[in-house]
Order: sequence, then C-alpha cells, then structure tokens
Amino acid sequence: MRDSMTPPETLQTARLILRKPREDDAPLIFRTYGQDAEVTRYLMWRPHTHVQDAQTAIQRFVSGWTSETRFCWLIVTRDADELVGSIAARKDENGVNLGYLLARSHWGRGLMTEAVAAIVRWAFSDPSIFRVWAVCDVENRASARVLEKAGFLCEGVLKQWSLQPNVSAIPRDCYSYAQTRQS
Ligand SMILES: CC(C)(COP(=O)(O)OP(=O)(O)OC[C@H]1O[C@@H](n2cnc3c(N)ncnc32)[C@H](O)[C@@H]1OP(=O)(O)O)[C@@H](O)C(=O)NCCC(=O)NCCS
Repeated sequence: MRDSMTPPETLQTARLILRKPREDDAPLIFRTYGQDAEVTRYLMWRPHTHVQDAQTAIQRFVSGWTSETRFCWLIVTRDADELVGSIAARKDENGVNLGYLLARSHWGRGLMTEAVAAIVRWAFSDPSIFRVWAVCDVENRASARVLEKAGFLCEGVLKQWSLQPNVSAIPRDCYSYAQTRQS
C-alpha cells in the first residue's frame, strides 16, 4: 500500500461540486443534516445536539486530509451552491471504503449515485487503488440501491459488522458492496 494519497480537494459532476470542508461549515452542517435522526439512522454517530458536534466532525475531516488517510468532501449543488450532503473515502489496504449521506430534502433525485460515481472515477485513476467498497445496513435499501446503480457488486453479508447506535446497541449485519479494478 502506498503511504500517501492525494485526491483533488474539489470534484465536479453534472449537478454537484464536491469540496473539502472548511472550519466555518459547522453551522451549515448542523442546520442542514447533522441534527436529523432520519439521516443518521444507519450511520455510526448520533444526531448532533449542538453546533459544537459539527465543529468536532469538521476537525476530524481536516485531520483526515492532513494525515492523508480519510478524505471527506461536502456536496454542494452547482447551480445554487447549496449544501446537500457529504461523502468520504477512507484509505485501507488496497483501496478505499466509502461513506455518504444526503440531507433528507434531497433524497430520491439520483444525487448520491452521481457523487459516488465521481469518487469511483477518481479512485481508479489512482494506480494504487484496486478496490472501492462500502457497507450498508441490510435494511438500508436506498443505500444498497445507490451502490447497485453506481456499478458495485454485492459480495455478501458481513455479520454483526457495524455498530449503528441509532438502531441497535449491538453491531448490525451489513451488505458489503465493491468495485474492483479488474471487474
Ligand atoms: C442513502 C442515500 C444517500 C441515497 O441517496 P439518494 O440521492 O436519495 O439516492 P438515489 O436517488 O441515487 O437512489 C436511491 C434509490 O433507492 C431507492 N429507494 C429509496 N428508498 C428506498 C426504500 N425504502 N426501499 C427500496 N428502495 C428505496 C430509490 O427508489 C432509488 O432507486 P431508483 O433510482 O432505482 O428508483 C440517502 O437516502 C441518505 O442520505 N440516507 C441517509 C444516510 C445513509 O443512510 N447513508 C448511507 C449509509 S451506508
């Protein structure tokens, strides 16, 4: 595995701009999706209760970029520069693992499929990346569908893989989806 990875700080799709978070994004994240229990249902964190929670999240994003291990982009619309969500790529042995979310008012427009496709394009342009993968709760049909539409294959179920505190106190079964360089 190569030690460093330097993805672009900004990526564009037909409708979206993916950009590196800034310190002053915290109030916007808090307002737009951080507090929403529907958005965070299948995520590994609890809804934000104070803007400081979003501030702490941004500090983690910034340190991930600095250590070149985790890259989070905020997703904004190209036409209105409106924050709609975020997507992250975390480096691992031979590739990257994705996580993502959208503000509820933007669900169902194909936006995340578009954002995931942009990250996959970037990932396979880096010769050190052989595998792009993501897991989603077995009940998170919208997320599974995004991955299928973006060309990922379901590899099976990882039993008791992920602790999602908003749905259960014990780890939940997840689907593992992947695209590989040779598939
Ligand atoms: C998962 C999420 C990012 C999807 O984003 P999105 O932009 O709405 O996704 P898309 O519009 O590209 O596609 C959603 C697909 O799921 C389908 N879908 C949505 N809810 C569904 C459900 N309850 N059951 C079955 N299919 C569902 C939609 O019909 C669509 O498929 P289609 O295009 O074939 O009709 C969004 O729902 C979200 O942010 N959820 C909360 C955070 C989250 O769970 N993140 C993923 C963690 S693994």
